[in-house]
Amino acid sequence: MQEKILITGAGGQLGFVLTLKLQEKFGVDHVIATDLYSKVGFSGHFETLDATDFQKLESIVIKHNITQIYHLAAILSASGEKTPTMTWDLNMKTLINVLEVSRIHEVNKVFFPSSIAVFGANALKDNTAQDQFLLPSTIYGVSKAAGENWANYYHQKYRLDVRSLRYPGVIGHESLPGGGTTDYAVDIFHKAIDNKPFECFLSASTLLPMIYMDDAIRATIELMDAPKENITIRSSYNLAGMSFNPNQLFLRIRNTYPEFKINYKPDFRQQIADTWPNSIDDSKAANDWGWKPKYDLEAMTESMIKNLKLKQ
Ligand code: SER
Repeated sequence: MQEKILITGAGGQLGFVLTLKLQEKFGVDHVIATDLYSKVGFSGHFETLDATDFQKLESIVIKHNITQIYHLAAILSASGEKTPTMTWDLNMKTLINVLEVSRIHEVNKVFFPSSIAVFGANALKDNTAQDQFLLPSTIYGVSKAAGENWANYYHQKYRLDVRSLRYPGVIGHESLPGGGTTDYAVDIFHKAIDNKPFECFLSASTLLPMIYMDDAIRATIELMDAPKENITIRSSYNLAGMSFNPNQLFLRIRNTYPEFKINYKPDFRQQIADTWPNSIDDSKAANDWGWKPKYDLEAMTESMIKNLKLKQ
């Protein structure tokens, strides 16, 4: 059967790269990229979509005979704290619209991204477990934890094939993040390449789980390609790549840019990061569908610098 793919949030950090990957996998004509903003720069089908608008979403699903939806649109952790009620409204309304449209129009598969933000200050920080009790500290985390329950509910009640990953902070050279607590780990590379000093909004020792874009995209595709019977978790899978703190990343970049300078000026995002895990136990993903990250801190840094230099 020929799949027809819909992506929301295609202009975002992950959405942009995932759209290109899905175009490569399914063919440019079989992917409909959508975003709230029309300034998204790729070829192929694009439609402006506010995914809180059910009727518009439904009309696109009907018009293109959509068989899979990747719902990437969301307000992230740091931005979310500035407008909590709006963040809840947007993150929940768009997800429920996607689940409902998928149920009504018998969409085959749905992907919903969750996050390490679902864990809160109560969670064990090292190798945080899949079944850790969730008590998130941000409204973004609250919306993702609720979203995981909605996904699980739609699977139980309607057998909707919805699958999800708890992404760590995503680092890539293709696109810029916006409004997250882990964004520093992308911004730092842009400063280093431009020979400028970097002001870090997290303290030197803030250890967080991160993943390189290539691994994040591969994990998404591998999860969505896995046989249905292998998927034992219908809330969201823990996913790990690497863990490092700003000082470790800085020192790694200094191997290539010995003059590179950093100063630390923690802001409100420090309080968010302090409630998140240091590292993640992703053994469920490994056992169920064979997940294994390829990039560690060294390989990620090398690839980021090489690719950003090519764009200079
Ligand atoms: N990278 C995201 C953020 O910082 C976490 O999901 O908000």
